[in-house]
Amino acid sequence: MSKDTIDLQEIRTIRGMRDLIGKDAEAFCYIIDSLKKIVSNYGYSQIETPIIEFTSLFARSLGEETDVVGKEMFSFFDRSEQSISLRPEGTASAVRALITNKLTQNLPQKWFYYGPMFRYDRPQKGRYRQFYQFGIEYLGSKSPLSDVESITAAYDVIQALNLKNTTLYLNSIGDTESRASYKEELIRYFSQYKNDLSADSQRRLLVNPLRILDSKDPKDQEIIQNSPSILHFLTPESSRFFERVQEGLTRLNIPYRMDRTLVRGLDYYDHTTFEIKTSISENQPSMAFVGGGRYNGLVQQMGGPSIPAVGWAFGIDRLILAFQHKIPPLHLISVLFVKEDEEYDALLLAHQIRSILNTPVLFPSDGNLIKRLKYSDKMNVTCALIMGEEEIKSECVKCKFLITIKDFFKGTEKVIKRSEITNFLYNLFKE
Ligand code: HAM
Repeated sequence: MSKDTIDLQEIRTIRGMRDLIGKDAEAFCYIIDSLKKIVSNYGYSQIETPIIEFTSLFARSLGEETDVVGKEMFSFFDRSEQSISLRPEGTASAVRALITNKLTQNLPQKWFYYGPMFRYDRPQKGRYRQFYQFGIEYLGSKSPLSDVESITAAYDVIQALNLKNTTLYLNSIGDTESRASYKEELIRYFSQYKNDLSADSQRRLLVNPLRILDSKDPKDQEIIQNSPSILHFLTPESSRFFERVQEGLTRLNIPYRMDRTLVRGLDYYDHTTFEIKTSISENQPSMAFVGGGRYNGLVQQMGGPSIPAVGWAFGIDRLILAFQHKIPPLHLISVLFVKEDEEYDALLLAHQIRSILNTPVLFPSDGNLIKRLKYSDKMNVTCALIMGEEEIKSECVKCKFLITIKDFFKGTEKVIKRSEITNFLYNLFKE
């Protein structure tokens, strides 16, 4: 058999891609639901954009010199020889959607989206080649209070998911004018260490020196430590803008730390940039849960009118890692019949409880009662409702507790009138 045939037969996921099953899938749904609820409270509504777009869309908006475009895109030629790419992020598509759907006169637009993104990065815990983002884009507001609002929504997510040991890092990279004078100073500074810089940073020195600040290379990092701060190069307008963002956060009691090297890994930002980071475990470096900022120039750069905007995106995979064990317990019920004679009564009971209480009810119908009880136990069912000949005759249900809840100990049983079962369960599960 040739090697090709063997490869084709191999059944495995592609490197950096994974299945979300069990606790991971449960955490995924819980996190998405929480995020949706939070951003809806800020007036965001959902958009869906394609997973594949023209490669030029990302190259033009994220920047040719960024790692994402230069090294990490999944790009292909389609059957008509057009270069297309799996989306590495959502902002470029949102801006494209604003323009192609002719919504640039209909502002502001507050959008949220979630779904898979693709980057050909080196996989490790918390970093995947297919990963999930949940993002918001606030298009059409130039007020610094929109930056505050957007950061507040991200902070709400961290609070709602009860994520500990997180820090909000904040910076401003000013407007184009601020960056132009800062870039000159950076070129002067880094040129002194040209030969010590990584090959990537040497190349970026003249093309896009700001990108050097984002380098993860340890030697570059040392040099970056003493580099000049952008904050000294902000124009008075940019400075005032940033002061108002900081003032807003302070008024809302949102703690933050300044990080003057926070330029973000994508080229479209100006003014405010921020990230919320944490250490996932002691021996792992801190990772960003969310990153974002203002991007006033992007819509125009992509062929639309000048429209200011601000947004962020959370990495859902990283939230799953940090949140996994904190999902509030879900009360599960199972309804079990003893013999075939009782199966339809039991089926009806399961259906009634599901619709009246809007709660998950399992109805295992294979195997004997012991097998179905074992399955209920394995699924962490709180109580199994058993219907046998005796129960049907006396219009009752036997409730067997598989988990201790309130005054009912694991393993005990209680017989309840059928007409009272939904009330009983409602009170049992009520906090
Ligand atoms: P980003 O910082 O490139 O920003 O990505 C946002 C978040 O996605 C990161 O903070 C991280 O949690 C997650 N993430 C990125 N790459 C990976 C990966 N390989 N594996 C797992 N998680 C990852 C953006 O994408 C911008 N579009 C955010 C934005 C929206 N700015 C303005 N609006």
